[in-house]
Amino acid sequence: MTERVLSLSDPMIVVDGLRRSIRNGTRTVDILKGIDFSVPRGQFAAIMGSSGSGKSTLLGLLAGLDTPTAGNVHLNGTAISYLPEDKLAQVRGKTIGFVFQSYQLIPTLTALENVLLPHELNSDAKDGKAGLARARELMESVGLGDRMDHYPVQLSGGEQQRVALARAFILRPPIVLADEPTGNLDTTNGAHVLELLLNLNKKEGTTLVLVTHDPVLASYADRRIVLRDGVVLSDEMNRDAEAAGHAAVIAGGGSR
Ligand SMILES: Nc1ncnc2c1ncn2[C@@H]1O[C@H](COP(=O)(O)OP(=O)(O)OP(=O)(O)O)[C@@H](O)[C@H]1O
Ligand SMILES: [Mg+2]
Repeated sequence: MTERVLSLSDPMIVVDGLRRSIRNGTRTVDILKGIDFSVPRGQFAAIMGSSGSGKSTLLGLLAGLDTPTAGNVHLNGTAISYLPEDKLAQVRGKTIGFVFQSYQLIPTLTALENVLLPHELNSDAKDGKAGLARARELMESVGLGDRMDHYPVQLSGGEQQRVALARAFILRPPIVLADEPTGNLDTTNGAHVLELLLNLNKKEGTTLVLVTHDPVLASYADRRIVLRDGVVLSDEMNRDAEAAGHAAVIAGGGSR
């Protein structure tokens, strides 16, 4: 008989009865009203739904940036929702890379320093040389080998988001969460950023959860989870993406 602790077939993300309410004066607003799903290792899941349906709230809870009113989030086998802040920060640093719509780069650091920052802040990642080499390699792989010493203000929106992608991958997180990562970019730059995100994702074998209201972006995902008014309206595998493979889909229509 074999004792199973954590196996490769266990889901990377488990969302269990997740609720989030917010008190607004005397009123309580129920933003998420009981969400359940799990994401297997390596899957690319798109979270969709109209504005105000709860997508960003859900992603914030997945990232441990917010605490639910009820329910829990398990990342790679660890229940994170009620961990004390120091423990949570540790799990977050080890487990998640986050990409925001608004890039969120530090203006006083160069592009390379921004990419390196999570490595510097992570007490487990002691080897500075290896970190620097990885940061440079990631900058190359997002096509910014010649922009390493530029400050964010000297970069275009698309370039800033590519720096943010490199930063999200620096610690080799098993999970990358992205909230409308192409929302501030034009179609061509948006397609380029998505392509790089999917390439990194594939190369590193990460699990990717991407929030988008854009059906074109979502068409690249393995699976589409649609929220409406704080509940899951539908949750379906995307057979097209599966059949074609991400790379082929993008090569065939990157700027659709
Ligand atoms: N701090 C807050 N206080 C009160 N209501 C909030 C708060 N944060 C979010 N909400 C409400 O919760 C709902 C869901 O917000 P959320 O940001 O998760 O939506 P979203 O699906 O990401 O929308 P969008 O597509 O516009 O980004 C919205 O109605 C929003 O107004
Ligand atoms: Mg949002």
